[in-house]
Amino acid sequence: MHVAVVGYGYWGSKHVRVLSTMPDVAVSVVDADKRRREEAEALYPSIRRTAGTIDEVLDEVDAVLVATPPGSHYDVAMRALSAGKHVLVEKPLATSVDDAEAMVAAADDNDVQLMVGHTFEYNPAVRQLRDIIRSGELGRVLYVDSARLSLGLYQRDVNVIWDLAPHDISIASYLLDELPVATSVWAHRNIGPWREDVAYLRLDFPSTHAFVHVSWLNPQKVRRTTVVGERRMAVYDDMSDNERIRIYDIGVDPADIDNPHMAHEMPVTYRTGNIISPFVPFREPLLVQDREFVDSIRSGVRSATPGERGLDIVRVLASTDVSMETGKVAPVLSRSAAARGVKASS
Ligand SMILES: NC(=O)c1ccc[n+]([C@@H]2O[C@H](COP(=O)([O-])OP(=O)(O)OC[C@H]3O[C@@H](n4cnc5c(N)ncnc54)[C@H](O)[C@@H]3O)[C@@H](O)[C@H]2O)c1
Repeated sequence: MHVAVVGYGYWGSKHVRVLSTMPDVAVSVVDADKRRREEAEALYPSIRRTAGTIDEVLDEVDAVLVATPPGSHYDVAMRALSAGKHVLVEKPLATSVDDAEAMVAAADDNDVQLMVGHTFEYNPAVRQLRDIIRSGELGRVLYVDSARLSLGLYQRDVNVIWDLAPHDISIASYLLDELPVATSVWAHRNIGPWREDVAYLRLDFPSTHAFVHVSWLNPQKVRRTTVVGERRMAVYDDMSDNERIRIYDIGVDPADIDNPHMAHEMPVTYRTGNIISPFVPFREPLLVQDREFVDSIRSGVRSATPGERGLDIVRVLASTDVSMETGKVAPVLSRSAAARGVKASS
């Protein structure tokens, strides 16, 4: 199978690395920047060819992997889809709901696979955490808290929410097996006049809430998701080498505050117990994801993150734009609600 990776930047180069390990895949690299192409050629002599535009390789390839900045995902992916090529698009699938819907429709019309690069949904630790939640070990999920912080990388074409929060939204939605129905956002531009670089999101899921902090302006690199359950709490720390998941056997129970004999007692009682870190087998999520892309093309079976999944997350991101603009809770519009023009609620 011949795959063209379009965009050999920070992330596209990692796709080229993992695809190059697959004996049944030939890789070509497309990048508008000649220096990037030369670097790819120097590092990967096995590369079939390099090109400056997708049009130069479309006739030769079976599939296209789009790893350009988000603002160009729609144009690049639509060229490939309308040429009948299978396409994997990095997150976010597109920068508007209309574009994402058009991409899903184009994949359908051309009978090809469209997949979105929600890499964390292929992460063994995230998958294990979902199993832990599903097993009931944590009890009812009271809330999810997530932080994705570092110094940079400032993007040109999207704000920090569209850049980083697709991961947190997809992780929370994957863990809870639900989609948010509304969002509320506080975001701020600290540096330069262009884009918000720090944001706090509240995602209202049908069963609970998730709170997401994303930042390009933080001295520490943090990639952490905390699931607070009624019985136990779990922390997934993607920066940890050997304790990616920790399960805290701790909790808080309300005290009987109406009992006059307890008037001077604490309003709650605390439970404390062991902290356990289960073994998480290592498999590089990007490799798992890209392998699934190739396999889905061969078998015709849709991947775990098809275009529709990307569209769902773009709908949530579009809702954060509305909330940021109005300062109100904004519903996540389904296709039918969007068509009716439903507005943000207070
Ligand atoms: N899944 C993940 O964990 C993850 C992590 C980082 C980035 N990403 C995503 O990967 C994508 C790329 O991000 P990045 O940080 O690698 O960006 P980058 O700026 O480092 O690289 C983008 C590359 O695309 C090239 N390019 C731009 N437009 C092009 C076009 N129309 N045709 C050909 N080449 C073009 C640029 O020359 C550049 O080399 C983004 O969508 C980003 O959100 C995903």
